[in-house]
Amino acid sequence: MRIMSVVGARPQFVKLAPIDAAIRAQGAHEHLVVHTGQHYDALMSDVFFADLGISPPDVHLEVGSASHGRQTGLMLEELEQVFIAHRPDWVLVYGDTNSTLAAAVAAIKIHQPLAHLEAGLRSWNRRMPEEHNRVLTDHAADLLLAPTALAADNLAAEGLADRSIVVGDVMADVLLQVAADVRSDLSQRLTRLGLAVPGVDGPAAPYVVATIHRADNTDEPARLRHILDALGAVPVRVVLAAHPRLVARATEFGIPLVDRSDGLTVCEPWPYPDLVAAVLGSSGVVTDSGGLQKETFILGRPCTTVRTETEWLETLDGDWNILDPTADSLASLAARPAPAAPQGTPYGTGDAAYRVVAALEAGSGRTART
Ligand code: UD1
Repeated sequence: MRIMSVVGARPQFVKLAPIDAAIRAQGAHEHLVVHTGQHYDALMSDVFFADLGISPPDVHLEVGSASHGRQTGLMLEELEQVFIAHRPDWVLVYGDTNSTLAAAVAAIKIHQPLAHLEAGLRSWNRRMPEEHNRVLTDHAADLLLAPTALAADNLAAEGLADRSIVVGDVMADVLLQVAADVRSDLSQRLTRLGLAVPGVDGPAAPYVVATIHRADNTDEPARLRHILDALGAVPVRVVLAAHPRLVARATEFGIPLVDRSDGLTVCEPWPYPDLVAAVLGSSGVVTDSGGLQKETFILGRPCTTVRTETEWLETLDGDWNILDPTADSLASLAARPAPAAPQGTPYGTGDAAYRVVAALEAGSGRTART
């Protein structure tokens, strides 16, 4: 079986890692990786392949940044040629980015079997480009690989139950593995990142990790300024690992990121193991990222999410994750202690990638279009 993964943005590289490892460990199938080039900065792309031991991309489209339509269209045109040249048994797409949608449309137009990893997530927020990307991809795909029971329920409600299977969450696979590695030298890593606090280790360390990158939070000057000021007013130090979109918008709007007079420190995006270390050493996280909400939950730190909704409803149980859409309550929420409520394992126990490969094997040759 020839499986072709299409990725392009940072969270997709994280999801690709356990899939690539599972296919290679099994040894029975060929895995080709296509990188669209949606994310191209070394810190947003290359370090993830190196740190997570992913095979280098077999094809790199180098599409880069553009408006949604142009970026998606450029990928669509190129991917069609790639699929025709390689004719994989499965095109495997990940999550909800423009790379996901472009690959889905390119595949179905030429009757190419299509599987969607992380199927069934819904925010119900139609302002998010990601919501359209995931809904359209789910309805196009032949095999829907749902991470959770709630995601499978969403698919069933849209009439897609017969193409769905719950496999667990591959982000839990990679996170549990990396967290085990990182714990062995956590203090040294935190020191290197400038996050260590003398005499204090682990969750008692008085700093909060932040990431903000969604267009709804970055692209309007008053809102971006308010969010950064609210982070600066949290009673402990806040370390913001800044996505290039945030840096670009703040610079354009004249909002200071360095030498701030408040408690906010801004740094470059971290490689994945450093992000995991930073969260493990922190007292909590403020974010608008989907993946980081869940990673924070799995690592047992409280999360505050600057959005009106979340796709990961399981994280809200027991107030492990609290939504603060206006960012007005960050001063009281961001540094709160971890809740005592039990968490369970809604995202699986680390074997999702193997279940993905098994589902692809079972579905191979039996898709609607073959
Ligand atoms: C994309 C995904 C989002 C995902 C996020 C993770 C879509 C619609 N959104 O958002 O689901 O959570 O990735 O990071 O696909 N830029 C750089 N260097 C890079 C990448 C981006 O400078 O390596 C800048 C460019 O100015 C670009 C902007 O960031 O215009 C936004 O990048 P884009 O790919 O449009 O979307 P993201 O915000 O990264």
